[in-house]
Amino acid sequence: MDSNKRIPKHVSIIMDGNGRWATARGLSRSQGHVEGVESIRACLSAAIESGVEYLSLYAFSEENWNRSEEEVMGLMELLFTEMKAELQLFLQNRARFLVLGNRPRLSEKINKAIDEMQEATSQNYQITFILFFSYSGRWDILQAMKKAAQQLPPEQFQAMEQKDFDQYLVTAGIPDPDLIIRTSGELRISNYLLWQSAYTEFYFTDILWPEFRQAQFKEALEAFAQRERRYGK
Ligand code: IPE
Ligand code: IPE
Ligand code: MG
Repeated sequence: MDSNKRIPKHVSIIMDGNGRWATARGLSRSQGHVEGVESIRACLSAAIESGVEYLSLYAFSEENWNRSEEEVMGLMELLFTEMKAELQLFLQNRARFLVLGNRPRLSEKINKAIDEMQEATSQNYQITFILFFSYSGRWDILQAMKKAAQQLPPEQFQAMEQKDFDQYLVTAGIPDPDLIIRTSGELRISNYLLWQSAYTEFYFTDILWPEFRQAQFKEALEAFAQRERRYGK
């Protein structure tokens, strides 16, 4: 069998466990998120090395807005400073940067930084790196439905097929994830890519996100290579 067939084109990660990692060390939850950024860098380089074409991360859910103001502000600040700090790394790695989610909920300052980073990396083709930020699966399906209803005449709306609906989701043009990894031992999807994960393979590990690095990423790819995908056939 062609070994390339065994490399997932799109790997997505529900990064979980930063808070527990920090609490266990007497640190603040925000310090856990900062350490988690190191894992993002590690997984990005492992993904590039392995030939993964899309790496996406669930970084902040619509429900995460309900956390304490301090934690939410810390996460916003982290997103902002990391975007500023990592531009060179993205350009060196020929990585395209995208943020998908409910952008109007983010501040003007953050939206501007996102636009700049996306624009600066739009010509990169080695890998597409996606942060799902202020994202939830149900929000995505609902906004897609509203957009389609607004844009399509009623007959076309009624005739819409699944592949047509795909074009209204924020993930339009991005292949569905082949593999979703969730760290920290939680066995749930937490309102992530609900529509897009219809035939995704899942990999759960007890490792907390700040400890999920290159070796752990490659282990997940190896587990994926053993899976038999049948798509109902
Ligand atoms: C994941 O870690 C990061 C985000 C959801 C932003 P958590 O912050 O959920 O960490 P735990 O689950 O409380 O340990
Ligand atoms: C899922 O983690 C969201 C992200 C990783 C961004 P949560 O920690 O918010 O999920 P629950 O609350 O355990 O379901
Ligand atoms: Mg969590």
